[in-house]
Amino acid sequence: MGTDSTACKTTITVQADTAGKPISPLLFGIFFEDINYAADGGLYAELVRNRSFEFQAIENPEWNQLTGWELTKRGEGEGWMGLDAAWPVHPNNPHYVTLHVAKVGDGVGLINPGFDGIAVKEGEDYDLSLFARQLYMGRRWGQGFSGKDGPMPLVVRLESEEGEALGEASLEVAGPEWQRLSASIRASRTEKAARLVLLGMDVGGVALDVISLFPRKTFRNRPNGLRADLAQAIADLQPKFVRFPGGCLVHGNGLGNVYRWKDTIGPIEQRRGQANLWGYHQEVGLGYFEYFQFCEDIGAKPLPVVPSGVCCQNASHTNGTGQRALPLEEMPAYIQDVLDLIEWSNGPATSEWGAKRAAAGHPEPFYLEYLGVGNEEHITPAFEERFKMIYEAIQAKHPEITVIGTVGPFWKGDDFENGWKIADALQLPMVDEHYYESPEWFMDNLERYDGYDRNKSKVYLGEYAAHEKNRATTLRSALAEAAYMVGLERNGDIVAMTSYAPLLGKAGRTQWNPDLIYFNNTEVFPTINYYVQQMFGNNAGDVWLPVEVGDSTKLAELAVSSVKDSATGDLILKLAHNGAQSKPLQINLSGAKSLVPSAVVTTLTGDPSALNNEESPKTVVPSTSEIAVSESFEHVAPPHSLIVIRIKMSN
Ligand code: AHR
Repeated sequence: MGTDSTACKTTITVQADTAGKPISPLLFGIFFEDINYAADGGLYAELVRNRSFEFQAIENPEWNQLTGWELTKRGEGEGWMGLDAAWPVHPNNPHYVTLHVAKVGDGVGLINPGFDGIAVKEGEDYDLSLFARQLYMGRRWGQGFSGKDGPMPLVVRLESEEGEALGEASLEVAGPEWQRLSASIRASRTEKAARLVLLGMDVGGVALDVISLFPRKTFRNRPNGLRADLAQAIADLQPKFVRFPGGCLVHGNGLGNVYRWKDTIGPIEQRRGQANLWGYHQEVGLGYFEYFQFCEDIGAKPLPVVPSGVCCQNASHTNGTGQRALPLEEMPAYIQDVLDLIEWSNGPATSEWGAKRAAAGHPEPFYLEYLGVGNEEHITPAFEERFKMIYEAIQAKHPEITVIGTVGPFWKGDDFENGWKIADALQLPMVDEHYYESPEWFMDNLERYDGYDRNKSKVYLGEYAAHEKNRATTLRSALAEAAYMVGLERNGDIVAMTSYAPLLGKAGRTQWNPDLIYFNNTEVFPTINYYVQQMFGNNAGDVWLPVEVGDSTKLAELAVSSVKDSATGDLILKLAHNGAQSKPLQINLSGAKSLVPSAVVTTLTGDPSALNNEESPKTVVPSTSEIAVSESFEHVAPPHSLIVIRIKMSN
């Protein structure tokens, strides 16, 4: 026993005493798109579904402006609800509900069960706000009207599905002008699927709109904020940037549906919600201000993507099918919108658009540096012409902004090649590559970027994921991504940014699988792939150190990267081991003289077919331990594992 196994060990030698190669400090970020109910019903903490009465049949043939709301008549109560658009709170938000109480009984009102129920927690506060005005003021209708001209009392209540009250508050709607009313309700017990009930308690009528309910506890306690647990799961990735708002959501389902950032800022009642091309409604309550604020809250750079003057090539239901381009005469106004975005983010509070940011509570700039133009467009002459116009206008007015172009939806093919041709011709600073492929593809392409021309545009790998045939997120797919990410880090001089896609998927409400984080109304289920992203994101570096793996070990079996983080001085080793047997390693940190002899090692390992899901959320999670390290030390890589060893230096 106790045999010397040196001969069987795979030697890893890191040139720790060399200057290394500078790599992008922004390599690992995230891609957020409102797909799979990621925003409304997801990250955006609003608990009321269809709060603005703007759902429409174009989003879902079974929907209309009253979808999600139902009339309730309590006791002997009699009345009805209607829809109106004659005198809206704001023209961007035209429809509102009317509630008519003919006989009070125990109240006549509206029920909203939220997004598959409203989850509340015992003892926590929920902030309700709404716009309201009285109807029938100074008038009488029909025989038997017995209402007063006084205010309409409203009871707002959280109830269980069985109708048990979980907390309530009272409001009064007084007068024929729209007014914003608010109240807070403390939940008397925890309930996964409560509902909001509003009851008119006198004869008469009211118009109601933007009926909103938020948990008081949002991420960083922001008003109009984000769901704390989901936002925290994202923050825990330590993303260096956040790309938003998509994805295909950006270029929209037809020209009338492209994402217009200006529609998403300002008071929520003035925002213009619209159909989400993933088949539901977007309130845009999570709008540009909230995206930028979230970036600031988590220390990530904002990376908005604006449409490139054309809609999605797969558009199907507005303005006909296929790619459509904005008429050239509309381009100057559109380009001005893009320039205004830069001013809104970076301009002084005294500038026209900076003033709007300041009015929203952020006088300081948001410091936008990166701007995507277009999302995996079909590269047509119409696209090219418009992209060039937008790019040149940004370059002329804001040369400080790094514009990111697009090279289609695949890793090769016509759009990829033609997109790169445009990038070469315009000498774009960066282009956005996308690909979703099998784990085998990723393992076969670990050296993809080794041969990229260092004199051309840098790469933002804006969307990627290893897809199993059944679209599950297995350890196998996660380890394929890990091995690939080792290559991204090795090529961090040319690959500037990367983001897995999509980020969020609401269980039972997905249009796309796999996603990095699944969730329901009360729980968050990180996939194994999430932990891979987290291990890389939490252990990023800015200098890549040359590393050699001895014997005949193939990259696909053991992919190793070694980086230095200048901020901490730490040396970080990442090992993606795809072998089925444990692999003894002899790790030499050549020239690393002053290392702290104990290091933290994080290991992710398990059965390659294992997956984390709702039934079994923690099948594979990383574990951490301390190991002894020196200039030459041993370690064993478990089968099917990702290992990160973080070594501190003593000076
Ligand atoms: O990530 C999901 C979708 O995949 C994105 O919206 C689109 O850009 C890509 O095709």
